[in-house]
Amino acid sequence: MSISNEDELLGVQKVSDVVALTLREMKAFARPGMSTKQLDDFGAALLNEFGAHSAPLKTYDFPGCTCISVNSEFCHGIPSIHRILQEGDLINIDVSAELDGYWSDNGASFVLGDDFHGHQQLVDASKEILQRAINSIRGGLKIADLGHLIETEAKKRGYKVIRNLTGHGIGRSLHESPAEIANFRDKYNHNRFKKNAVVAIETFISTHSDIAVTLKDGWTMVGNKGGFMAQHEHTIVVTDVEPIILTWNNGIW
Ligand code: CO
Ligand code: CO
Repeated sequence: MSISNEDELLGVQKVSDVVALTLREMKAFARPGMSTKQLDDFGAALLNEFGAHSAPLKTYDFPGCTCISVNSEFCHGIPSIHRILQEGDLINIDVSAELDGYWSDNGASFVLGDDFHGHQQLVDASKEILQRAINSIRGGLKIADLGHLIETEAKKRGYKVIRNLTGHGIGRSLHESPAEIANFRDKYNHNRFKKNAVVAIETFISTHSDIAVTLKDGWTMVGNKGGFMAQHEHTIVVTDVEPIILTWNNGIW
């Protein structure tokens, strides 16, 4: 959506505060020995308290309120009583929701407890790259140039990017135009960021894979060449200067 008045800005800020707080609280609540279903139930209760509705559930009939992906799972992991979190796991939580007709999306990867498997470097790279990417966005910037920046920063750190997962426009629904904000220079994408546009910017930084593939459960995505992936996501408003980061309170920085 494009913000055209104060009410719209307040509407999208309100739902962004809710998804940001839910993500932050879920990260704090995660413990070894807990199932991803327990963690999702905790997030679902928070969204419900605020009167917000899970976006993946509402839009896609996803079997959960939030996406919780662990280790080899890159994204769209289904909350399950059988998936028990362990110390050192690389966890990604993605929370998106609708409130009063406005939609917002944010996500974060983190290491649970002690970093037994050495994932922190990947997590930090993803966070830093998101920060650089968002700080570079202005009305008029080519979306392909943002992709180039993300891929260049990933390569500099010895990582790859996933080519078939992207950021997206958002605001009046979960996925809007611009439909694809890739993590590489997509030479076929001639679109530019527009001032006042609400967009979800997300990194997909990986150790080995460059494509995410869907498992037989129809949801969970893993890498075509295995390894691990970190994702961080904010919903922002594009301006003439640095963007307004609507999901700032999620605590990823
Ligand atoms: Co998301
Ligand atoms: Co998103």
